[in-house]
Amino acid sequence: MDCLEGLKLLDDNSIDCCVTSPPYWGLRDYGVEKQLGLEDTPEEYVENIVKVFSEVKRVLKEDGTLWLNLGDSYSGSGKGRNPDGTVHVSSLIAKQGTSAGTVMGNVKSGIVPNGLKPKDLVGIPWRVAFALQSDGWYLRQDIIWAKPNPMPESVKDRCTKSHEYIFLLTKSAQYYYDNEAIRETAKNANKTISLGEKSFSKRQAKGVGVEPSGNGKSDNYTVKEYRNKRSVWTVATKPFKGAHFAVFPPALIEPCILAGCREGGIVLDPFMGSGTTGLVAKQQNKNYIGFEMNSKYCDIANKRISEHHEQLKIVGD
Ligand SMILES: C[S@@+](CC[C@H](N)C(=O)[O-])C[C@H]1O[C@@H](n2cnc3c(N)ncnc32)[C@H](O)[C@@H]1O
Repeated sequence: MDCLEGLKLLDDNSIDCCVTSPPYWGLRDYGVEKQLGLEDTPEEYVENIVKVFSEVKRVLKEDGTLWLNLGDSYSGSGKGRNPDGTVHVSSLIAKQGTSAGTVMGNVKSGIVPNGLKPKDLVGIPWRVAFALQSDGWYLRQDIIWAKPNPMPESVKDRCTKSHEYIFLLTKSAQYYYDNEAIRETAKNANKTISLGEKSFSKRQAKGVGVEPSGNGKSDNYTVKEYRNKRSVWTVATKPFKGAHFAVFPPALIEPCILAGCREGGIVLDPFMGSGTTGLVAKQQNKNYIGFEMNSKYCDIANKRISEHHEQLKIVGD
């Protein structure tokens, strides 16, 4: 069902964490009426997104988190075509750096949105982030999803786009965030470093990354084994057989659910698609609720998640 309708069925303060990727503006036709993403202007798109996430805010627990994946797009020339020859939805907008399959329909063509020039970067992720901030969300972090295997582009007057955003937004200033669950192994873990070596200073030694070696009386420090997770996440896109659109690589959202949801908690995805959020939640012993308008994608999601249960049963036997 339409997530806006579905969210109304959920109780206030009942969800631990929301991990989602809404349709990007103007990029694809998901083949259903009332779908989000086909608005005529970025402003209308942002308005609709804010409406959905205002409901998400209501259903999130006070200490809940929202991990929102968005990619950007360019104002188009009106000439776009898909690799399969169909006219690109984003004759309206030139498609950008997603793990896209084919675009599934013809929508609008030749429009350059009001206030933009052909070739302008639309800036959708930040427009959405600021609008959500104005709507009361705490904008806590812009995580960069760096793709080692970006979509090839034939451009010669700018870099090939190889990143998207994951915004971490929260309902309150204090929130559930298990940083230890997603900590990284430090670069020089367990190595000893002395004051003065490689211009390592007392000031740096006060930082969190080292601790005094031995009895603490020497100038030697040991680099701690782990460090706080960094904000650039390098994860390759993985095409998912059966879905003709951008699917989360599970590795991308594993840290979001590890850090954002307690064991046994509930993860929400209002734009469930092929069900990656549900699958990863289940893999981590957490529950999920998802909404999806296109019943074919619901079937894909159900099959994918039940296959995971089957595998668990086989391992259990
Ligand atoms: C980018 S895809 C999500 C992909 C998903 N993260 C995955 O891993 O498979 C966005 C999905 O939102 C769905 N959608 C669009 N508008 C919707 C709405 N108003 N309510 C619920 N789902 C919607 C589309 O059908 C599409 O499957």
